[in-house]
Amino acid sequence: MNVIALILAAGRGVRAGGDRPKQYQAIGGAPILRRAIQCFLAAPEVDGVRVVINEQDQAHYDLAVEGLDLMSPVPGGDERHHSALLGLESLTDIPPKFVLIHDAARPFVGAALISRVVDGLKGHHAVIPAIPVSDTLKRVASGQSEISETVDRADLWGAQTPQGFRFSTILEAHRERAMVDYTDDAAVAEAAGIPVHVVEGNPDNFKVTASADFKRAAAQLGVSGMRVGMGFDVHRFTSGDGVVLCGVEIPFERGLEGHSDADVALHAVTDALLGAIGAGDIGEHFPPDDAQWRDADSAIFLQKAARIVAERGARITNVDLTIIGEQPKIGPYRNAMRDSVAGLLELPADRVNIKATTTERLGFTGRREGLAAQAVVGLEMTG
Ligand code: CTP
Ligand code: MG
Repeated sequence: MNVIALILAAGRGVRAGGDRPKQYQAIGGAPILRRAIQCFLAAPEVDGVRVVINEQDQAHYDLAVEGLDLMSPVPGGDERHHSALLGLESLTDIPPKFVLIHDAARPFVGAALISRVVDGLKGHHAVIPAIPVSDTLKRVASGQSEISETVDRADLWGAQTPQGFRFSTILEAHRERAMVDYTDDAAVAEAAGIPVHVVEGNPDNFKVTASADFKRAAAQLGVSGMRVGMGFDVHRFTSGDGVVLCGVEIPFERGLEGHSDADVALHAVTDALLGAIGAGDIGEHFPPDDAQWRDADSAIFLQKAARIVAERGARITNVDLTIIGEQPKIGPYRNAMRDSVAGLLELPADRVNIKATTTERLGFTGRREGLAAQAVVGLEMTG
């Protein structure tokens, strides 16, 4: 067997929305494309994987496939079938005996499904996974709401990918029909008169198309739901005339010692965010012996942590922060501190809570040797 998987990832993902094409958005911490690729890398029948990308997405691609053993990517075209043809053309110098053409937007392929398609190729030139349609189908003219007919679903199937072909057969079919806008490769083969056979598809192998599909994908992975992180930090008092807490300057007879601006409160929140997402701690991301963080504004640390959280497909639901110390008195600054944290994290103010407590003059905070802060954050995994 000589099988190459060609993964089409050059689309713009307009319907799914988001800050980047859907295949580069994360589900459960890994981009959809990476998940799709890993299904093929794990399949014993597959000898190589090549991804067809949009050249504008090179940076997203490099990040998404870090550490994976792939053939070099090739540029796609304006329509899916152009991308498929360009991908096939790029394989002509190899050329493989069989090719599996797959939508990057389907991250749940499954080893059994790949096996069924490859098995089918032993007896046929073209094999696709498909599932019988279960909804009753209605025809409604574009722009209308009235049903013009009920379509008999008895013989209808929904096509999935990967679609498997003898390489030379599908290359020729695509070359001959490059001008026609087919939405899958089986349609190209059918138009060329090539018999295409179905094998059993998998309902989980759905295509992420609209923004609501990210929720379904996350639920399928079992990664939806809440996460919690906690952070704790201490800074020692030193000579000075004020402290910075949550980015707010508070006049005081002393200052806080630290490599950065010693904002003990933002450090605790930053650690809580990193903790919730399994991304280590503040010292790992901003080493205290690194000169670039000397006197740094801790808002930088917090916002970097917030970006990591967003990249992992999570949304901050709330922040609860406790400042521990006898002095300075936090009360007069509490609202400004809350608004500052809310602003930095782009959260409504009622998602942030600031509390303060003394330790009844006990311990290092009681002896006024320093300030401590403790934070808890909640995250909702959106992807
Ligand atoms: N695709 C591609 N080249 C294109 C268009 C689509 O490689 N010019 C890929 C997509 O990246 C996707 C697959 O084909 O993996 C299926 O297409 P679709 O679900 O329509 O994705 P998009 O075209 O990206 O999404 P939309 O139509 O919403 O913009
Ligand atoms: Mg499309």
